[in-house]
Amino acid sequence: MEKVIFFCVFSCWIMQITSSDLSAGGSSDVRVRMGENITLNCNMRNRYEVAWYHLRSEELVLLISAEKDKLGRKLLIKFNLNSTRLEITADSWVTRVSLTISGVTESDSGHYFCGTKSDAPEMHFDKPIRLEIEDEVTVTERVLMFGGVGLAVFVFFLTTVIAGGIIYHRGQQKGWRAAKHEALMTHHS
Ligand SMILES: *[C@@H]1O[C@H](CO)[C@@H](O)[C@H](O)[C@H]1NC(C)=O
Ligand SMILES: *[C@@H]1O[C@H](CO)[C@@H](O)[C@H](O)[C@H]1NC(C)=O
Repeated sequence: MEKVIFFCVFSCWIMQITSSDLSAGGSSDVRVRMGENITLNCNMRNRYEVAWYHLRSEELVLLISAEKDKLGRKLLIKFNLNSTRLEITADSWVTRVSLTISGVTESDSGHYFCGTKSDAPEMHFDKPIRLEIEDEVTVTERVLMFGGVGLAVFVFFLTTVIAGGIIYHRGQQKGWRAAKHEALMTHHS
């Protein structure tokens, strides 16, 4: 029994490590609650064009694209999929651009790619950002999962204490019997 519970706790722990390793490897993770606004940053130093793509269910969608003006002090929007929800802003020398998505919904989850261009014709892509939308269900699930592990640890602790108690009790009984036996033996001799 203890072994089984211990194995479960251990494997849960391993599973948690592996899943966090996987997500940390190729992309950075961002978690937001449904309805919140999110800002994703991209480096645009020495680049002239920028485009944000959203990968969801194997479909790559261009969200927004922009290019620097002649002086390189402003971003000119070339394309915006939905200007009521998507906005791109930049610092004064346009070295860092930020995409803001307002009122995120479940369909905004997935990977975001920021592509930038300099004089060369090809686009350069940074590490993608994985956006995860949390609703109440995800939060509840996490509480339940955490509670499950906590419970397993508690049961493990409890069985150890009980088993320890039984062993101790048996030992005591054995001791009694041995003492009784010894007393009888000495009585007989
Ligand atoms: C743009 O976003 C708003 C708000 O979420 C939505 O109501 C509207 O349908 C969207 N428009 C397009 C063209 O997707
Ligand atoms: C989210 O963005 C919208 C539109 O840009 C704005 O009206 C709203 O105040 C923002 N909400 C928060 C919580 O920042």
